[in-house]
Amino acid sequence: MIQVLHISAECYPAAKTGGLADVVGSLPKYFTNAGMLSAAIIPKYALKWIHGREWVTVYGGSVWVNWRQWRFTVQQEAGNSLGYPLFVVDIPGLFDRPGIYNDASGAPYGDEIERYITFQQAVLDWLLSFPWQERPRVLHCHDHHTALIPWMVKHCPAYQQLAPIPTVFTIHNGQYQGAFGWNNGNLLPPYEAGARNLLDWNGIINPMAAAVKTAWAVTTVSESYLYELHQNSLGLETLFHQEWRKEYGIINGIDVHVWDPETDPMIHHRLEDDHIQAFKSKNKRVLCEWFGFPEDAPLISFIGRLVGEKGVDLLPDTYRRFIHSGTRACFLVLGTGEPWTQNQFRTMAHQYPGRFNAVIDYNEALSHQIYAGSDFLIMPSRVEPCGLNQMYAMRYGAIPIVRSIGGLKDTVPDIGEPGGNGRGIRFDHFSVEDASSALYRAVSMWHNEPGIVAFLRQRIMEVDFSWEKTIEKYVAVYRRVGATVEPDKAPPPEIKEEAPAKPVAKAAKPVAAEEPAKKVAAASPKPKVKKLAPGEKPPAPETAAKPTKRIEKQSVSEEKPPAAAKTKRKATAKKK
Ligand code: GLC
Repeated sequence: MIQVLHISAECYPAAKTGGLADVVGSLPKYFTNAGMLSAAIIPKYALKWIHGREWVTVYGGSVWVNWRQWRFTVQQEAGNSLGYPLFVVDIPGLFDRPGIYNDASGAPYGDEIERYITFQQAVLDWLLSFPWQERPRVLHCHDHHTALIPWMVKHCPAYQQLAPIPTVFTIHNGQYQGAFGWNNGNLLPPYEAGARNLLDWNGIINPMAAAVKTAWAVTTVSESYLYELHQNSLGLETLFHQEWRKEYGIINGIDVHVWDPETDPMIHHRLEDDHIQAFKSKNKRVLCEWFGFPEDAPLISFIGRLVGEKGVDLLPDTYRRFIHSGTRACFLVLGTGEPWTQNQFRTMAHQYPGRFNAVIDYNEALSHQIYAGSDFLIMPSRVEPCGLNQMYAMRYGAIPIVRSIGGLKDTVPDIGEPGGNGRGIRFDHFSVEDASSALYRAVSMWHNEPGIVAFLRQRIMEVDFSWEKTIEKYVAVYRRVGATVEPDKAPPPEIKEEAPAKPVAKAAKPVAAEEPAKKVAAASPKPKVKKLAPGEKPPAPETAAKPTKRIEKQSVSEEKPPAAAKTKRKATAKKK
């Protein structure tokens, strides 16, 4: 019996634009491993991973949205290759498109409200078909796309049979609240008259606000972010104050099987016998060859969506100032996003060969190689609910330089803080001055204190960021809202090995700044083109990986590394 059902717009590796997918893709796995069968359900998009799997229809139904009937089926992934049941809702006409939120040109589809209202109703319609004793014990909704569910089960007569099931709502990103005007109110299923107020915030329908009001518990992905939402959440501050009793900040974990320097098939040199120095320098050499950087200068990378939220607009000026000062360091950027920022980076790659380079692309395999080969990873985020990249970086021995915000603050204590638990370098203010002085600290440490760098690398690579600790906190929240979530007697379902049909790509020399097929304009002078090893293929971006305005984060999956290659990094357990 499914104990926890995660309902989301994204789930790695099926559909990913960012961290939401990583979290929804790994939480159910860790729960299921702990004996609490959990499943995830997302819309069936026309994406490569989804098309490449076999699906078994488990339910068929229809829902009415604004006098229009949408037929749908719920399908389950036949191979159970993720280690937990993954369901997709196939709604022809709404989700059978090659992008998650945006079309190939980057424009939003325009019918987002209708799409996700229909999806949410379809999920509830399916749940009604379960005998009541087999219904999940918790409905766990993620972000605004699924935020109307807690309200629907309480206040829409069609779904009220589900009202006894506790709902938990997790905020991964409070910037997007899914708000729309009352002129679209007719898209909603019929509801009790008194429930109108619960939808409304400042005169418009605000799904995130509705979830904060009606979910049994609300969680955010770090404690600091919960505090920050109380200070600034685009108008919801008083609501967060009102509902504080049911709010919890729970830091995300990372999938330590996918992110394992000892077994990662996407990097060129794996960690062997805990030889961190060799692991770092060999992987750095690969990057230096590709991007034309000297090896005897620190390499500072940025990976992520090139958008304001991630603070990338701070980087061009900070880097220019730094480069002109003559301090020896190199900078690398991987990501797609706002055209203005992309252009800045392209120009800089031409202006500062050997010092700066950028890959304006969306590339999972390359991101792994960059974590493995960089000395530092910078995250100057304006807002960062949790942030996963700093954790990936630490696991691969890249020291994080972060702004003290949200989850970055919670996961990266500064090396100068009392207590001696530092993991990286932090700065407070969103300014070129503050970011530059953090960079100077990092660079001078690299040049003058190699012993400290080596010590710090070892320390951060040993930190346990796995989900085990985090799921205990979720279990506590589920229990607090009365859900009887507990390990089943029956063993978890068998994980079928994924067919290793294609070899998993190591990060191959990235050749495209914009279109993966073309040569990168960024590198100048041209870095040596690395010969691909036999059987190695350049990473092919997934359908969803088109640059879009809003969604792209650091990476989209290609293939999942073969399960066989994944073992928990011994070091994590060993050195704890
Ligand atoms: C969102 C947030 C990010 C967080 C992720 C997973 O993408 O921006 O900070 O790590 O969700 O919760």
